[in-house]
Amino acid sequence: MKSIYLDHNATTPIDPRVIEAMERCFRETTANAGSQHSAGRQAKRALEDAREEIISVLRGDPAHDRLILTSGGTEANNLAILGMGPESRRGRILVSAIEHPSTLATADELERQGWQVDHIPASESGAIDLEKLRTLLEQSPRPRLVSVMAANNETGVIQPLEKVVELSHAAGVPVHSDAVQVVGKMPFEFGRSGVDAISFTAHKFHGPAGIGGLLVREQTQVQPILFGGSQQLGKRPGTEPVALVVGMMTALNLWNEEADQRESGMRQSRDHLEDLLLQDSTAVVNGQGERLPHTLNLSFLGLDRQAMLMALDMAGVACSTGSACASGSSEPSHVLEAMGLETGRIESSLRLSLGATSSLAEIDEAAKRILKTVKHLRQSETAPNSPSEPREKRRKSL
Ligand SMILES: Cc1ncc(COP(=O)(O)O)c(C=O)c1O
Repeated sequence: MKSIYLDHNATTPIDPRVIEAMERCFRETTANAGSQHSAGRQAKRALEDAREEIISVLRGDPAHDRLILTSGGTEANNLAILGMGPESRRGRILVSAIEHPSTLATADELERQGWQVDHIPASESGAIDLEKLRTLLEQSPRPRLVSVMAANNETGVIQPLEKVVELSHAAGVPVHSDAVQVVGKMPFEFGRSGVDAISFTAHKFHGPAGIGGLLVREQTQVQPILFGGSQQLGKRPGTEPVALVVGMMTALNLWNEEADQRESGMRQSRDHLEDLLLQDSTAVVNGQGERLPHTLNLSFLGLDRQAMLMALDMAGVACSTGSACASGSSEPSHVLEAMGLETGRIESSLRLSLGATSSLAEIDEAAKRILKTVKHLRQSETAPNSPSEPREKRRKSL
């Protein structure tokens, strides 16, 4: 039985055309991009060309915006939370309650160091509460930064970034946005968005893992969090991985060329999957309003998410119960909790996420497998000899 991969928000399979471009670069670029000899200068050229192209695809301004290359989204978010904003305004920061753990845990670290961290709450729809943001911005001291993701990785709910920028800038506070689930999936116009910096990572759009970036507007201050050489103007020292950057550029260019087909294809497949799964009377979608085209979060009320995840794996459907960084643990989703959903709904939630190569035939087959698994689990839960221990205990024995 062929397994169907519906966990693209965790990572996407690398596009073979990206591998080819990287192979060529590995073969042709042998020197350190920081070396002064001609081979080094050639590597530097390949790096800078790729950097410019990435900024252009993100509709930034290659002459003024700065792309700080990082090892991925986690590092880009760490750099933004720890290093972005006016140095003089240390002490307070605003982050949304539904951010990825790489943002929340970094903010927690600041809190341990004595900072005031205020969390912007979310509503039941999955979008952040703008009125609360307005109130938090009015309080003193003035925060050094506001960080709100462009779209949530668990529910797919697109956040009201334009409004966040308007409110924050009116209060004189720069905005960082974790755009990891948007870049390479939907058009993002950095120039027009007004945000001061975005994080992104190549492995979410069929590029290589281990490379990402923080795209920063010219005037925005960023203090480094790593120290060493003078690469990237000292903002992120370390030898640049030229082939990975070329891989990220290639993956982004491929998305750019195929953006419309990819987006409409994923949206059509996701909506089809949603329609099929909602045939189960206990299924309920988590997250409302505008959503990413490739993300579906839903609960099968009464079932246990960990039990479903494992049964689905056996049935040949790979999906998740939340952020990949939080899985492995069986902690309930902090995102669904922040939305105020009831425990039963959180405990029975699944995230299904599609990629550029997900086909309608695959979706039909996945829906069949999921519905069959759900039915089977429900029957075994209501069977007379089903385990009588509390759910918490049963989960541990799975
Ligand atoms: C919204 C979001 N931000 C950040 C990250 C972390 O990115 P990376 O895996 O490149 O460190 C992820 C990955 O799951 C994500 O979904």
